[in-house]
Amino acid sequence: MPRPAIELFRKTFGTIPRSAASAPGRVNLIGEHTDYNGGPVLPIAIAERTTSVVGPGPADASGILETVSTRYPTVTRVRWQEELPTGWSAYVAGVLRELWTFGAIPPGGSVRIAVASEVPVGAGLSSSAALSVSAAKAIATFAGATLTPRQIAGVAYRAEHDHVGVRCGVMDQTIASLAKRDRALLLECASLAVQHIPFRARLMLVDTGVKHDLSAGSLNERRAECEAAVKRLKFELPELMWLASWPVHWLPRLKRALPEPLRSRAVHVVGETARTRFAAELLARGKMKQFGQLLYESHESCRRLYACSAPELDTVVAAAKRAGALGARLTGAGWGGAAIVLVRERGRGTGERVAKAIRSAFRKAYGREPDIRPVKSSAGVRTERV
Ligand code: GLA
Repeated sequence: MPRPAIELFRKTFGTIPRSAASAPGRVNLIGEHTDYNGGPVLPIAIAERTTSVVGPGPADASGILETVSTRYPTVTRVRWQEELPTGWSAYVAGVLRELWTFGAIPPGGSVRIAVASEVPVGAGLSSSAALSVSAAKAIATFAGATLTPRQIAGVAYRAEHDHVGVRCGVMDQTIASLAKRDRALLLECASLAVQHIPFRARLMLVDTGVKHDLSAGSLNERRAECEAAVKRLKFELPELMWLASWPVHWLPRLKRALPEPLRSRAVHVVGETARTRFAAELLARGKMKQFGQLLYESHESCRRLYACSAPELDTVVAAAKRAGALGARLTGAGWGGAAIVLVRERGRGTGERVAKAIRSAFRKAYGREPDIRPVKSSAGVRTERV
């Protein structure tokens, strides 16, 4: 697995890397746009991983970061304490700044890093968390520091949130760090309580090929709307800290208190919070039909209330439903990217039939076919041999 990154490191820097780590991408089963609102999420880690390999920086300089990746083979060189590079290297610089607060960087603070990734970028599969979590682990290991998976997740989250400036929640970095194979992770984002729930269902990933770029602002805009909603709702409930904590049986009161579009955004968050907790219970009890139904409902709420879907995603979900899939919805932030489809083992609604129906509906609408593949679950961050 770390081969391509090791080869790239050697070729680029002419030396051997000293540590390596990999972290997975993820799909979120349900609980969309709830994490930064203090609600629950239910992701699984996927088999596609990002590998970071690390070695000492140039001998004559301190505080230097040099990065290279199989996707962008030109070396970027920055003084990471003073400047934040553009593009993907900014995540690594953010990771270094955060590791520095743990004393988990090598003496002199110079590192070289080479990255190879199987996680598609811009598909809503959290390629950025796979990058920052694997980089955090590889750099900490190189520095001889032992950080817990929770600490690694925290470093990666603050790198993205505080330094790169994407106002994401904690879901992606947490699942990339804590995931277990064949388990979904129920994460309560206010308390950070976690529960690993067995997940062995048949799931397909449909990548619409519509790219989204989170640093472009849609996520930040939604988050600002949610914060504005909380500010107004505090007149009703002064103790309210998180939008997701608004009691679901008080929805009529919430609707009266908020103007559009804050009302729609808030109704999504409160409804999705209840749906996600219920879905986790159904999953634990093996009630896949009802679980799947909640995936459809979640998609509808994302589309209509949170306005974070895209026509291509709606086409996929509608075709999956017509073909008898148990459930389907966009996964990740939305505005493009991928959908997940929960299929049956036999009869109507099996993977093959549903995939065929999706391909044909998509071709009719857009003149091309989406990429469809089975989702295999995987485990969280781990060190790799160099
Ligand atoms: C992005 C963010 C996550 C989460 C999802 C939406 O993936 O990085 O923290 O907010 O969007 O659920």
